[in-house]
Amino acid sequence: MKTFRIFILVILFTVFSGLSSLEADGLPRIMILATGGTIAGTGTRSTQTVGYAAAKIGVDALIASVPELTGIARVSGEQVLQLANENMTPADWLKLARRVNQLLAKSDVDGIVITHGTDTLEESAYFLNLTVKSMKPVVLTGAMRPATAISADGPMNLYHAVLLAGSPSAAGMGVLVMLNDQISAAREVSKTNTTAVDTFRTPDFGFLGYIIDGKPLFYRATTKRHTATSEFDVTNLDTLPEVAILYGYAGENRTLLDAAVASGVSGVVNAGTGNGSMSGRMQTAYREARGKGVVIVRASRTGSGFIARSVEAKDDAYDFVVAGNLNPQKARILLMLALTKTKDTKEIQRMFMAY
Ligand code: SIN
Repeated sequence: MKTFRIFILVILFTVFSGLSSLEADGLPRIMILATGGTIAGTGTRSTQTVGYAAAKIGVDALIASVPELTGIARVSGEQVLQLANENMTPADWLKLARRVNQLLAKSDVDGIVITHGTDTLEESAYFLNLTVKSMKPVVLTGAMRPATAISADGPMNLYHAVLLAGSPSAAGMGVLVMLNDQISAAREVSKTNTTAVDTFRTPDFGFLGYIIDGKPLFYRATTKRHTATSEFDVTNLDTLPEVAILYGYAGENRTLLDAAVASGVSGVVNAGTGNGSMSGRMQTAYREARGKGVVIVRASRTGSGFIARSVEAKDDAYDFVVAGNLNPQKARILLMLALTKTKDTKEIQRMFMAY
C-alpha cells in the first residue's frame, strides 16, 4: 500500500511539474513538417546558388541549424516528404492536408510550419488554404538559396515562420506564406522570379504584413473563404479529378486541347491571353470540349488582374466558368476541389467568386 501511495505521488509530481513548466515558459508548441526543396538543399560551393541539389537535409538538421528557435517556441519536426517540389503531386497534397488536420486537432499543437520548395509552394499553400479545418496558424516557408550558400535565406525564413505560426495574430488568417520578412496570403501569392530571393509577390493586393524585428505586423486580411469556413473536405479522398492547364498564344491550334479531352480530363483551365481571351477557332474547340462534359475555366497568362464574365467569350452561352483573379495554377486547384462536389457550372462559378 505504501509503495502504491509513493507511485501515485510520483505520477502526480511528474504530471504537475510538466504542466507548470508548460505554463512557466509560455511558449507555443509548433510542429515543423518538412517536404524538401531548396531550404533543405546543398551545393558543392558556398557561392553556388543554381544547379545545387534540393531536398538533401532532414528536418532535425534543419531545426538544429536555427538554435534561436528554442527561444520562441517548443518545436518538433516530422519529415512528411523529401522532394524537389516540382515533383509534388495531388496525392502529396492530400497526404499533407490529412497530416496537418490530424495535428491541428490535437490540443498540444498550437501551429504548423511547412518547409517547402518554392517552385510549387503557392499550389500546396492554396490547396491547404481550402482543405485545412482549423483556425490555428499554418505557415509555409522555403528558400531561394541552398543551406550551404553564403547568406542562405532559409534559416531566417524558418525562424520567422515559427514566430508567425506561434503568434495569436496569425490565427484565422488562412494559410500564410512567409519568406523574406513578408507575410502573404496563400490565395494571392505567386513565385514571380526564377532565382531572386524576393521572388514571392502578390501582384493585385500586396503583402498581408511583415515581420519587423521579431514582431508580426498585419495590415490587412483576405476577404475570401478559407480553412475552417471552407466547404471542401478531403478526409476520405485518395485522388482528385484530373484538370489540365493549357497556355494560350498567338496561332494556338487545338491539338493539345483535343489530346487533353481524349485523355479523359474532367476540366481544363485556359491560361488565356489578356482578359482570358481565346481565338475564334479555340473558342470553337473549347465549346466542343464543354459539349463533351469537360468543365472549362477561363484564366489569364498575364500574372494579374480579374477575368470578367462574358467579356472576351460568351460565358453564359458557352457554359464556361471564369477564374476571377486566381492565376491558372490556383484556378486548377479550386476546379479540382470543386469537381469533388459538383459538375454544375453555376455552382462552380459561385465557388470561384467565394474562394
Ligand atoms: C523546389 O521547389 O523544390 C526547388 C526550388 C526551390 O525550393 O526554390
